[in-house]
Amino acid sequence: MAGKRTFTMIKPDATSAGHTGSILKIIEEAGYKIIAMKKTQLSSSRAGQFYAVHQERPFYNDLCAYMSSGPIVPMILEKENAVEDFRKLIGATDPQKADPGTIRALYAKSIEANAIHGSDSDDNATIEGDFFFSDLEKY
Ligand code: CMP
Repeated sequence: MAGKRTFTMIKPDATSAGHTGSILKIIEEAGYKIIAMKKTQLSSSRAGQFYAVHQERPFYNDLCAYMSSGPIVPMILEKENAVEDFRKLIGATDPQKADPGTIRALYAKSIEANAIHGSDSDDNATIEGDFFFSDLEKY
């Protein structure tokens, strides 16, 4: 059965461009309850830990540099069918391929600086949420 929670983070390109509020509005209007949220900044090595699954990819070093270049807003979100519906809400990784109206189509700058992350499975939603919110039992 699909889970009720997913993990997301608004990325440095979107926070620095002043899109945080607009993106939060889209997320809440899509029916997601924000369970946990903060504004923070990753070091390059911590960005590397988060994206360790991509460490053999040619874009890995650039991705770590970019993801540590400015503030991010990580969140845990709740809604029925959270992971799958959120992936639809944000659109394809490459904003040029993202459906109109999706968060990436609206706000992403490039395939790397693509405004927002969304977990790709229930298991990764839990792992990624724990990465930022180790005190989640409080929520
Ligand atoms: P995200 O969904 O957070 O997961 C991995 C990230 O790597 C992705 O968003 C992009 O920011 C980045 N990424 C994926 N593919 C590429 C690519 N071909 N070139 C550069 N960055 C990429």
